[in-house]
Amino acid sequence: MNNETSVTAIHPDVERMLVSEEQLRQRNIELGAAISRDYADREVLIVGVLKGAAWFVSDLTRQLTCDFTVDYMAVSSYGAAHKSSGVVRILKDLEVPLEGRHVLIAEDILDTGLTLKYLIRNFLARGAASVEIAACVVKEGAQEEKIDVRYEGFVLPNEFVVGYGLDYAERYRGLPYIGVLSPRVYEDA
Ligand code: PRP
Repeated sequence: MNNETSVTAIHPDVERMLVSEEQLRQRNIELGAAISRDYADREVLIVGVLKGAAWFVSDLTRQLTCDFTVDYMAVSSYGAAHKSSGVVRILKDLEVPLEGRHVLIAEDILDTGLTLKYLIRNFLARGAASVEIAACVVKEGAQEEKIDVRYEGFVLPNEFVVGYGLDYAERYRGLPYIGVLSPRVYEDA
């Protein structure tokens, strides 16, 4: 296979790589070990927030030795202009009740924190016994809401990042690394 068709070659729209495939693999092993220790004596329900978290959930759960089940939610904020309102619309809800469950929300990225603030409050209102957060990426200095991330993958600069589930206009999610999107991609759009 030549480099131009390899998924591991850096994509021409990616300005620079921030987190390599190997670093992601290693961090998932570490996070998986910490989660497995913390939930050794109780079953945890892992809630992935679609679509971006699907990649993280898939890799992270393969590192768990504790008892767990997985469910997914799809949410959307009411358009970028209204994001600061913190109003989140549920596009796909959970299939299981949360009463008495220990929930671990898995997010691909913590940006403003508005999505997670809404979800934490919503899950506690449904009777979850505990709600913790695992975030693959935390954007440095971007949070408008203070969110306590128990399992943090990588703190990255506040730039437009893509890959490993993170998209721009639904593209680049499948890149096996996380990188900064070249500004010319959205400037030309
Ligand atoms: C992203 C990400 C989080 C949210 C974080 O989802 O997956 O759910 O934004 O942003 P916040 O901290 O500012 O609330 P997005 O709406 O892009 O959907 P996607 O996962 O389908 O790409």
